[in-house]
Amino acid sequence: MTKSDQNMAELFAERSTQAARNEIRALKADKDGRAKEARFFRALAQGQKVHAAKLLLLMRGLAGSTDDNLAAALAEVESSSDALSDMIMVAATDRNALAETAFTQFMRASDSHAVRLNNVSADEGNYHVCSICGFIVPDTVPERCPVCRAVPEQFRAVE
Ligand SMILES: [Fe+2]
Repeated sequence: MTKSDQNMAELFAERSTQAARNEIRALKADKDGRAKEARFFRALAQGQKVHAAKLLLLMRGLAGSTDDNLAAALAEVESSSDALSDMIMVAATDRNALAETAFTQFMRASDSHAVRLNNVSADEGNYHVCSICGFIVPDTVPERCPVCRAVPEQFRAVE
């Protein structure tokens, strides 16, 4: 990997994070009754997403084979699950119940991601994602999300 490849990867992560932060800032501006600033934060986020998308296009040559990528994605999910386990304990110690609940849901959703990653070849490829917690289910949407209890209308089909 060249220095430019590394720069693109770092800039992609940075732009993606900035866009997410600016979307949160837009929500806060909405809450504060500052609609113009909210729209600006959304515009800023969209501009940063344009950069991120462009960087993804530039980096596509860096992707490995699909089998390598499945293995890499599984390793990332498992690593994330371990980190979340630690974060849950910290949130409990901090008595931050909202963070504890969110991290717990993320960990359980990540477990579902690992299951799906291990079964992609057997799945039909008709996935639905819970818009509340990120749980992935193949084929049929459940009556309630097994992670966060969301209703079926909260699941989004993946195209
Ligand atoms: Fe959910």
